[in-house]
Amino acid sequence: MKNICVFGLGYIGLPTAAMFAHHGANVVGVDINQHAVDTINQGKIHIVEPGLEAIVKQAVGKGTLKASLTPVHSDAYLIAVPTPFKGDDHEPDLSYIQAVSKALAPLLEKGDVVILESTSPVGATEKMVEWLSKERSDLTFPKYHEPDNEADIFVAYCPERVLPGKVIEELISNDRIIGGMTKESTKKAQDVYRIFVKGDLLETNSRTAEMAKLTENASRDVSIAFANELSIISDKLDINVWDLIELANRHPRVNILQPGAGVGGHCIAVDPWFIVNQNPEEAKIIRSAREINDNKPNWVIGKINDQIEQLKSQGVEKPTVALLGLAFKPDIDDLRESPAVTIAKKMLENQSANIILVEPNIETLPKDLESGKLVSLVEAMEIADIIGILVAHDEFKKEPLKNSVAVIDAVGII
Ligand SMILES: NC(=O)c1ccc[n+]([C@@H]2O[C@H](COP(=O)([O-])OP(=O)(O)OC[C@H]3O[C@@H](n4cnc5c(N)ncnc54)[C@H](O)[C@@H]3O)[C@@H](O)[C@H]2O)c1
Repeated sequence: MKNICVFGLGYIGLPTAAMFAHHGANVVGVDINQHAVDTINQGKIHIVEPGLEAIVKQAVGKGTLKASLTPVHSDAYLIAVPTPFKGDDHEPDLSYIQAVSKALAPLLEKGDVVILESTSPVGATEKMVEWLSKERSDLTFPKYHEPDNEADIFVAYCPERVLPGKVIEELISNDRIIGGMTKESTKKAQDVYRIFVKGDLLETNSRTAEMAKLTENASRDVSIAFANELSIISDKLDINVWDLIELANRHPRVNILQPGAGVGGHCIAVDPWFIVNQNPEEAKIIRSAREINDNKPNWVIGKINDQIEQLKSQGVEKPTVALLGLAFKPDIDDLRESPAVTIAKKMLENQSANIILVEPNIETLPKDLESGKLVSLVEAMEIADIIGILVAHDEFKKEPLKNSVAVIDAVGII
């Protein structure tokens, strides 16, 4: 398994391509983004991931990693393109996988391995095989319901579960789920990952592997929704939810997560919808969890607005509200799908207060928050009448937050 082609050179595809190249394979990384291709071919990277640039630089220098707009024939093809959802029903958008199938089909030769890594609804791998076989009626492809059948092409679904910021380490050490369409496909896909993975390569079929990825993220989402629901109930009953959870967690078999301002990021806030969309009648808890977590920002906004109204009734004409934190989780600069950004955007529409924003991990505000003002924590503490703590950044824990003002602490720092 010497020649590998990786489609999609983003947060997942580029580190994966670099790892194969670093461990002796000849890798061509394919992307439709000319800037990404040019950057990588200069031995640089267009994304943020500690340790990645050095590996890319070395592999490009040695000639084992090359980025390109067009694929070449390889022994194995990995696909790590986006799979967002579209519309109110959160329907998974598989058009990126379909586009890759079209580009890849003409290159296929008997014995090649095709691995889908993009987070996908159950059945997506079979759909991909349909697209491939439509283009290549001269080849035989595996069938999910015939696990022992023999085909010209081997196809597997192998989800990714690395943590951004620790991708290089986790790519090697994490256990991986290897879901072949047939038993032989599983074995061939294991051979591919064995090039650099030290974790276990866990055998299953493609549908189970697809569902496993969605299950992991839905499980996190449901657990967080439980904590978020508890925080709303506790507030109504005048109970400190942080004390409550700490006490309940002293039970030897209870482990409740911490509530927050909602759920963000591009995985946990997205992937459970793939299950709900496909199983609208059955996925009751999973749907509720998504709705509870998506509604938490509105609840936080309501609490801040109550404080604004109270101060106004006490004669403060236009209270100043400092929102602390914009990232989707503590101590990172990633604002994607962040509930804190949702809160900030809606609060900026509120003309009855001055809104100032504190996010120590960014230099400038993104376009959709341009009307806001980014200030330091010290400045915010000097002028704020109300503080909304939205993210538990370390910086916010170090400073004693001014306690003479009204505080809405969505993350339990205080
Ligand atoms: N980022 C994560 O932490 C993470 C973790 C697990 C799974 N995933 C899943 O992995 C997949 C990729 O995620 P990502 O974060 O790397 O996305 P990304 O947006 O960072 O990268 C995707 C890349 O694919 C490229 N692309 C789009 N269409 C293409 C095509 N037809 N041919 C070649 N390249 C194409 C894009 O230009 C982009 O560079 C998604 O399904 C995601 O859900 C991501």
